[in-house]
Amino acid sequence: MNQPITELIRQRFSCRRHPVQPIAAETQQKLQEFLDIIQTGPFGSRTRLALIAAGEQDRQSLKGVGTYGFIKNPQGYIVGAMSPGDRNLEDFGYLMEFAILFATDLGLGTCWLGGSFTKSGFAKKIAVTGAESVPAVTSVGYIADDSKAADWIRRRAGGAMRLPMEKLFFDGDFSQPLQLTEQGPYETILEMVRWGPSASNKQPWRIVKQDNAWHFYLQRTPGYGQDGWLGKLLGVADVQRLDMGIAMCHFELSAMELGLSGKWSVAEPALEKPDKHTEYTVSWLAG
Ligand SMILES: Cc1cc2nc3c(=O)[nH]c(=O)nc-3n(C[C@H](O)[C@H](O)[C@H](O)COP(=O)(O)O)c2cc1C
Repeated sequence: MNQPITELIRQRFSCRRHPVQPIAAETQQKLQEFLDIIQTGPFGSRTRLALIAAGEQDRQSLKGVGTYGFIKNPQGYIVGAMSPGDRNLEDFGYLMEFAILFATDLGLGTCWLGGSFTKSGFAKKIAVTGAESVPAVTSVGYIADDSKAADWIRRRAGGAMRLPMEKLFFDGDFSQPLQLTEQGPYETILEMVRWGPSASNKQPWRIVKQDNAWHFYLQRTPGYGQDGWLGKLLGVADVQRLDMGIAMCHFELSAMELGLSGKWSVAEPALEKPDKHTEYTVSWLAG
């Protein structure tokens, strides 16, 4: 990437207006080459990502999957086929977000579209096999001049807003907010997690620091997605697990850029969780 990750994370926003201008062939090629090399997420499950040109029937595929944003003139979509596996949705979220940051570096605007596209035209275009599924797609195109300012959906969804750091990051256990000024470069890393996109901007990620470990939790929004009976009934993808993968992506890439090493480990600490909607995902062990 040409620009620093921390800069790309700050630049990215959900772009829902594009000019009618096809993505340059060279740019498409660069993006597809990148998609071809990122196939395995931090938990080891496989995702195939492909850039497909936008077609007339895509609008049809987007209907009825609860996509609340109307994307104007998308020129293409990044579609992913996810294989079964433990924490595969987190892997998918991680890889799709990595692709989005790369697209941002190429000057493209993107918007996550979560739902379940396994039976849609998108799935056909990426030739999904029986075991694979398509939990989300990302629309892509150049950024319309007025895109950011005039995007009423962004304002409505509170896209420019984020929860304060003390509601997201904790010290030792969930009762104690983390003193950010004492965290050195980790303050920036956590800020990068905070600016991550999330479904309906619910920001379900919570992180508890214990010594050199950063424990990631998903605090589900009650009644939202899979937590609610409606979500289960409709079989919608568990989008908040995608959000966790996005948080992991922002954390790890920012840490790498700041020269901090570490690794992912699944070992749930004996910590009291704030409510029944909160579940452990993974820990980053620094060092
Ligand atoms: C998993 C996921 C699914 C999303 N699905 C949609 C969607 O269906 N329609 C839409 O317009 N935006 C969707 N978004 C975009 C969010 O609304 C957006 O990221 C959030 O409001 C924060 O705004 P920002 O991306 O501009 O920072 C989705 C985001 C994520 C991470």
